[in-house]
Amino acid sequence: MHKDVERILISQEKLEKIVNSLAKQIEKDYNGREFILVGLLKGSIVFMAELMTKINLDFRIDFMVASSYGGGTESSGKVKIVKDLSISPKDRDILIVEDIVDSGNTLNFVVNHLVSEGARSVEVVTLCDKPDRRKVPFTPEYCGAVIPDEFIVGYGLDYDEKYRNLPYIGVLKRSVYE
Ligand code: IMP
Ligand code: MG
Repeated sequence: MHKDVERILISQEKLEKIVNSLAKQIEKDYNGREFILVGLLKGSIVFMAELMTKINLDFRIDFMVASSYGGGTESSGKVKIVKDLSISPKDRDILIVEDIVDSGNTLNFVVNHLVSEGARSVEVVTLCDKPDRRKVPFTPEYCGAVIPDEFIVGYGLDYDEKYRNLPYIGVLKRSVYE
């Protein structure tokens, strides 16, 4: 285990099971639809890569960058689109892939943005959800794990752009950011 990690919250084995189960649900619900799987960079990279190889359907992929976080552990509440889709979402079903829903600000903003661009439907698959921290109402359609209010890293999730490469999800030691 990494020296900055206090404990492992979701092991590699458990992550694999979670991703397989989400992929099966998506496969069933999206069968026959023309959809775009949209990863929110950078946190979703590992989850997106694992998930997409397990969805046995034909679909397009694209990425967006939205920012609301600085170097700290708190959302600023102000979201902006730093990189928009390169494929038009007009009349398409969009499935957004996210690492974690926290305040809900980011996804609330991104979903509204894609709806205003003419998407036929917009749904969200998130690996983790911290519902206790919600500041705006938001419920993801697919969720891998509901987690307590602790700062986590690994499997794509970062603190100050580090720890994204850890193959598990761990709770970051408070001494690292306090
Ligand atoms: P929201 O807009 O507050 O819901 O923030 C969502 C974004 O904040 C996520 O996409 C993550 O990038 C980041 N985030 C929230 N909680 C954590 C955490 O515990 N670890 C790492 N990143 C987090
Ligand atoms: Mg993110």
